[in-house]
Amino acid sequence: TPKSYPVNLIDKDWSERKLYFWSPAKSFPAMIHDMEVKEDDVWIVTNPKCGTTWMQELAWLLLNDCDFEAALSKDLELRSPFLEFDFMVNSDEQTALERVEELPSPRLIKSHLPLPLLPRQLWEKKAKVIYVFRNPKDAWVSGYYHGVTIGYNYGKTLEQFFDECLEQESDRRYIIEHAAEFYQLRNEPWFYYTSFERMKCNLRAVVEDLCKFLDKTVTEQQMERLLKHLSFEEMKKNPTTNHLWESTQIKLENGGKEVHNFVRKGKVNGYKDDLTPKQIEKADNFIAERLLLNQVTLEELL
Ligand code: A3P
Repeated sequence: TPKSYPVNLIDKDWSERKLYFWSPAKSFPAMIHDMEVKEDDVWIVTNPKCGTTWMQELAWLLLNDCDFEAALSKDLELRSPFLEFDFMVNSDEQTALERVEELPSPRLIKSHLPLPLLPRQLWEKKAKVIYVFRNPKDAWVSGYYHGVTIGYNYGKTLEQFFDECLEQESDRRYIIEHAAEFYQLRNEPWFYYTSFERMKCNLRAVVEDLCKFLDKTVTEQQMERLLKHLSFEEMKKNPTTNHLWESTQIKLENGGKEVHNFVRKGKVNGYKDDLTPKQIEKADNFIAERLLLNQVTLEELL
């Protein structure tokens, strides 16, 4: 049975951890924790690089009667904002909240916050929450290339970044903890747990699950268009799903010198092309230790 929520914001395990490499979790604003949640909100919560954008595009289309034209004409970030982004980049929680408050209902809200830092009203209002997990090795490699593009990894080798993920206080280090807490909620009717790997293996089944979860139906024709629209090839060339907004929000420290498409490779176990056998072993040991501590297996989380 899941723990009872809300848990204490200054949970002793979480408060000293760093989110996004630099902010101690306890500095995350009470304003977000206290924000108003609406019953018909849909929240997408993930660790960075686990298939968030892919799931957002899918959920947005289901919530908006498969309006592909509308989806293609407005950046996904405007349709489904990243809740804590302005706080993370500019310490601006006011703007962070305003962007979400201005959304028409049903709001589709993205967050990477760990469970104890999410708004406490989620547990009262029972707004729907979708969680997407991904094999940490793929998520870390994906994070490296994303970070090169937007600057925080520019000039850094994959090896350096990878060691940081395993050794330094950051959200990347707590990927198993993050997932394990949400995994406990998997049988709650307002909660849907899935993984990048499941989406890759059978996207149709995930769309069908989500239709049930969100009380939506799609015709076979809409289903086929959805599957095509959400395919890697289509999303890679879709300007609204490639985080182009980031380059206007974040000063690209690399001056745009090395840019990897946001929808980059989209593979399961793609890390094998990038990591050395030694790095893989190190990661596997780290992951095994974290799984044990959290009493969960990788098979369960995936
Ligand atoms: P890679 O960098 O491994 O290619 P997030 O949205 O959480 O940041 O996750 C980004 C990852 O999801 C990237 O992984 C990206 O390529 C992948 N992705 C996005 N859309 C996808 C799609 N339609 N099919 C497969 N992978 C997709």
